[in-house]
Amino acid sequence: MQNFNFNNPVRVIFGKGTIARLGPEAAKAGKKALFVYGGGSIKKNGVYEAVLKTLAENGIETVEHSGVKPNPVLSHVREGVKKAIAEKCSLVVAAGGGSVIDESKAIAAGTRYAGDVWDFFIDKARAKEALPIFTVLTLPATGSEMNSGCVVTNEETKQKYSAGAPVLFPKVSILDPETTIGLPPAQVANGAVDAIAHLVEGYFTTPDPDNAVTDEMVHALARSVIASTERILKDPSDYNARASMMWSATLALNGLASCGYGRMSFINHAIEHSLSAFYDIAHGAGLAIVMPAWFKHHLANGGEERLAKFGAAVFGSGNAQETIKAFEAFFKKAGAPVRLSEAGIPAGDIPAIAANAMGLIKLWGVKADQAEVEKILSGAI
Ligand code: NZQ
Ligand code: ZN
Repeated sequence: MQNFNFNNPVRVIFGKGTIARLGPEAAKAGKKALFVYGGGSIKKNGVYEAVLKTLAENGIETVEHSGVKPNPVLSHVREGVKKAIAEKCSLVVAAGGGSVIDESKAIAAGTRYAGDVWDFFIDKARAKEALPIFTVLTLPATGSEMNSGCVVTNEETKQKYSAGAPVLFPKVSILDPETTIGLPPAQVANGAVDAIAHLVEGYFTTPDPDNAVTDEMVHALARSVIASTERILKDPSDYNARASMMWSATLALNGLASCGYGRMSFINHAIEHSLSAFYDIAHGAGLAIVMPAWFKHHLANGGEERLAKFGAAVFGSGNAQETIKAFEAFFKKAGAPVRLSEAGIPAGDIPAIAANAMGLIKLWGVKADQAEVEKILSGAI
């Protein structure tokens, strides 16, 4: 088990009816909020009205910044920065999934930075200040509501890159599982795959796998994600399954489920970001394609013991091959694509995808070259 620092300052308010608690919390940070949301799902499920009501009741004026795209784009982030500065907003309120929260984080930091916000994504600068961020999560998946990272796509250069800094931790995140009851099945699948991906990246790439506490946490969270997803698929109105899913996905990427793993590699994410950058595919769907292929590669490169351990704890079979099959069966059952062709991505594009992935691989310090990435992707044909 390697040395680690763990600090998570996000105040989570979890449960039914908790959006009303947003206003009193946000009022401690300021009186004018940039209210960021996406394509309108929050207007269908009551979240929009609930957010406006609690903010107004607590004396907070709102300036809306809507139209955040899934896989948020840099041009829209830049617009948000301009708006927040022009309107002198003193806080940011995000209501939606990971895309909305990530764009909000980028805007919050960009507003307090003299240069271009993209600098944070290419390691030209690190965010030192940001407007305080408040979130209302409506899609369990990314963990953005309780971590300090954000992902934005530069649509001109086709780079889907990430930024991170302690100032990007939200101050308060509201997690009301009832907001997820109407999620389309495809988003349920994407969220489940993403949460699983966050658990397995560290588990399978840690240089120091003798770490019982974190391993067992990963096993438990993975079992919870799988069981909750199966219940949600059977009965979308199952509140306790929605609640377990929401909290599991948050815990999967809030720092806890990788303590002591040391320098791990986010290789599946690095490759997936290129699929999203090129084809605008949902992050979870891209991961469901990359992960089985990477597992096969990992098995051929010394991963047998960990795959068998994970399989025994999560899928009830201590055989590495069976573990890979079980991952793939779960992704398929949830409704995610597991091959490039299922997402309409031609195998002939693999060299270009791999070349694009090398940008992030280098930036993140992942040990892989383009030939290796091409080999991994060839397992996804
Ligand atoms: O735009 P709206 O209308 O809100 O609709 C969204 C969007 O179309 C919809 N949706 C969200 N909540 C809903 C809902 N529809 C009905 N009912 C609800 N309650 O779902 C669609 C997808 O939303 P999005 O926010 O894009 O999904 P997700 O939460 O999976 O976020 C994906 C983004 O987060 C990044 C991904 O790369 C991707 O860009 N990630 C962020 C991370 C982080 N900050 O830590 C880590 C992850 O690994 C990931 O990279
Ligand atoms: Zn992810």
